[in-house]
Amino acid sequence: MTALDSSGAPRIIQPRKLGAGRRTDPPKSLCTTLPPGQAAKEMVHVSATPVLALRGVSKRFGAVQALTDVELEVHAGEVVALVGDNGAGKSTLVKTIAGVHPIDEGVIEWEGKAVSINRPHDAQALGIATVYQDLALCDNIDVVGNLFLGRELKKRGILDEVEMERRSRELLQTLSIRIPSVRIPIASLSGGQRQTVAIARSMLGEPKLVILDEPTAALGVEQTAQVLDLVERLRERGHAVILISHNMADVKAVADKVAVLRLGKNNGVFEVKTTSQEEIISAITGATDNAVTRRAARTTGEVSK
Ligand SMILES: Nc1ncnc2c1ncn2[C@@H]1O[C@H](COP(=O)(O)OP(=O)(O)OP(=O)(O)O)[C@@H](O)[C@H]1O
Ligand SMILES: [Mg+2]
Repeated sequence: MTALDSSGAPRIIQPRKLGAGRRTDPPKSLCTTLPPGQAAKEMVHVSATPVLALRGVSKRFGAVQALTDVELEVHAGEVVALVGDNGAGKSTLVKTIAGVHPIDEGVIEWEGKAVSINRPHDAQALGIATVYQDLALCDNIDVVGNLFLGRELKKRGILDEVEMERRSRELLQTLSIRIPSVRIPIASLSGGQRQTVAIARSMLGEPKLVILDEPTAALGVEQTAQVLDLVERLRERGHAVILISHNMADVKAVADKVAVLRLGKNNGVFEVKTTSQEEIISAITGATDNAVTRRAARTTGEVSK
């Protein structure tokens, strides 16, 4: 299957249908711990109704039309990569979903029903968690303090450090996150470990949809692998994930679908398994002739004009 039609234009695919081996269970509670190595890799949780659907969403900033008629669907147990060139509208799209920039036109559907997301609180209340690139972690505070920042547990008016530490360990263990100690400051963790702590923090509210903005952008090979493993675990646990990335290797490694934005508009939604990296890059750049496709053509013996 190719993701380009005969005219060379990217083809919008339909969302995958439910099939054998797919389950429609709601996301598991984070309190249920999967035994190590028992992650249900073959059991991909994909719901029939998308958790989130954008229908004809547009957003303008003054003279800049950042998004035009954008469509997007994300199902439970599915990782959708959102890709596009600089300025394509990825961050704007995420911010409309997260309630930072309310949409001008179109409809946002949550579990099949139209909803209004006008502020971050609306998104959180629905079950949407966003991990922004700057992570917003406090370097001088330990892991427990960061996980519960802004939602500290108290017992008779005093911080319940024992319970917060217990829950932190449980959460990190559930997500198979390896940190030397939950009582060390964030400053002494690696970039990959920080990223996983930031993602773990977003899990505390047990969101149905997790949006990750360039989670591996500043990471080395091993740290990237650690974060991508965590993304896989989120999917295994039935969460829907939107992953913004510029890295095609990451997209190919963990995403099920890739949605391409170009100049604020949809430019194709592709099944990752059956689409080549070159096809995705062509959709991003809007050209079928570029260095990547020419190189691919040379290596396969085809002539590109
Ligand atoms: N708050 C804002 N005010 C005015 N214009 C904005 C604002 N936010 C984004 N834009 C504009 O909207 C367009 C899309 O920007 P956006 O940040 O969504 O792109 P992006 O795909 O995230 O790019 P990058 O890969 O560089 O992060 C750009 O032209 C940008 O200048
Ligand atoms: Mg951006």
